[in-house]
Amino acid sequence: MQVSKSVAAMQHLAERWRRQGVRIGFVPTMGYLHAGHLSLMRRARREAGGGGKVVVSIYVNPTQFGPKEDFSRYPRDLKRDLKLCRAAGVDAVFAPPDGQMYHAGTVGRDSTCVVEEELSQRMEGAARPGHFRGVTTVVAKLFNIVRPDVAVFGAKDYQQETVVRRMVRDLYFPVKIVVAPTVREPDGLAMSSRNTRLKGELRAQAVALWRAILRAQAVVRQSTAPVPAKRLRAEVEKLIDREPVARLDYVEFFEPETLLPVTGVRRGTHMALAAWVGKTRLIDNARL
Ligand code: PAJ
Repeated sequence: MQVSKSVAAMQHLAERWRRQGVRIGFVPTMGYLHAGHLSLMRRARREAGGGGKVVVSIYVNPTQFGPKEDFSRYPRDLKRDLKLCRAAGVDAVFAPPDGQMYHAGTVGRDSTCVVEEELSQRMEGAARPGHFRGVTTVVAKLFNIVRPDVAVFGAKDYQQETVVRRMVRDLYFPVKIVVAPTVREPDGLAMSSRNTRLKGELRAQAVALWRAILRAQAVVRQSTAPVPAKRLRAEVEKLIDREPVARLDYVEFFEPETLLPVTGVRRGTHMALAAWVGKTRLIDNARL
């Protein structure tokens, strides 16, 4: 497995593969890898096909974190991540230091960036101003460096995946975007690098997000008429807030393609929520 720390080295390697006619499957991550990330790598391998190469990037992107968010506390362990990538049969890891991804002194102040202005307005975009600008900018940089044939994203971050697909469509990036399902713990909690901070009671209460999804699914599936979003929102709020250390940030019910909120929720409506569990903010989503 090759490990590239510089943009030039990664570009060079990918360029060599491309010239040999090798298909490149790409998985961008912020590291502290878990089974969710590993499932994306397997998918990338399948998508790249026989003789194809899988590239994983590991980079905690500072520009997608707000000034009061957990950038400095975000878990990092490159040694462990490289071991996991090696075991997963990854061909190359791109793990750049900050000075590589943002020219010296310009972190968050680069004069060129990529902004998606429609799908990124609500939910995570509203709760975390500047977040998606950071995501689309870094993903565009990564696509330009690796120039993959196919890139795999997780359904766990539904809005992110939707925003990235829109960026790729609007800017004609020559890459196929593939979305892989959310990998969960046995009790339903969506795997996340941030889960490592959930100890004891916090971990037990974190499953409330998944319970809220199951509850909404059950209500919608039992009803023949659309269920008022207001009523579902109240139910979700109750479920989350009865956990002593959990607090609902938002829950939305929306059309899966446009992300536009609906007033009547039916089968096929998408649900996404964010909640604080102690000092850790978790998100989850599902089709109802
Ligand atoms: P990160 O949170 O590390 O996630 C990397 C990829 O793994 C994303 O596509 C995410 O949706 C996917 N993923 C995370 N948890 C998952 C789970 N439980 N099941 C399936 N897939 C899961 O998302 C980012 O990093 C960053 O925003 C990034 C795209 C790398 C840009 O910086």
